Amino acid sequence: MVVLEEIEQARETLLKYTREAFFRLPTLMKPQILDIGCGSGVPALELAKLSDGKVTGIDTDQSCLDEFSRKIKAKQLAKRVKAINMSVFDIKFPDKFFDVVWSEGVIGTLSFDKELKQWRRLLKHDGYLVIHYQQKCAADAVSNLPQYGYNLADTVLLPADAWWTEFYKPLEEKMVFLLQKYGGNSDALKLLMQFQKEIDMVRKCPEAFRTAFYIMKKT
Ligand SMILES: C[S@@+](CC[C@H](N)C(=O)[O-])C[C@H]1O[C@@H](n2cnc3c(N)ncnc32)[C@H](O)[C@@H]1O
Repeated sequence: MVVLEEIEQARETLLKYTREAFFRLPTLMKPQILDIGCGSGVPALELAKLSDGKVTGIDTDQSCLDEFSRKIKAKQLAKRVKAINMSVFDIKFPDKFFDVVWSEGVIGTLSFDKELKQWRRLLKHDGYLVIHYQQKCAADAVSNLPQYGYNLADTVLLPADAWWTEFYKPLEEKMVFLLQKYGGNSDALKLLMQFQKEIDMVRKCPEAFRTAFYIMKKT
């Protein structure tokens, strides 16, 4: 997927919620953090800034990973942050390797049931899984966490209209400019059309797209 700087900037406005979720974790000394479905690294780089640990992002979209790698280099974070092309369906890290497994905007496209069970093996004893996703999609799984081997430690619920007021509406206001700037690039145009569809959906009913961070402790 093509990465557009204006969309990256819009995504960054929501990092305050990533920070809030991170601060709900206990203090962790040099944690090993895995970001599943890291995209171009917006949350992963924030996690590196917030912690003194090592952050590994995995994704299968090479264009996003290339952009993530570019940022790692520009920020001189290569010793602490890695961008790896690895599918969620074939995670190759050993058992109990990570203190924190983090994932934003990914799990709803997969199976909660399967991934919650599978990601658990990656966590050290007392490790934390933090998932950011739409509240209505996550509700069932979150109400049954002990069956997956977790307890719900905390939740950061975003304001009902956060995605509309802080992400989609500002993007809509820039859409004419973006179409002018990127209209000649077919990949960028496809991406903008996809965002326009999301804008139209979220505008109608922002609260249906309300998201939350679920902070789960491995039991
Ligand atoms: C909505 S984006 C979220 C990106 C980033 N976590 C964020 O919050 O900005 C979802 C990401 O999941 C990745 N993804 C989807 N299926 C995947 C899979 N099977 N394995 C790894 N990553 C996947 C996509 O490539 C995309 O970068």
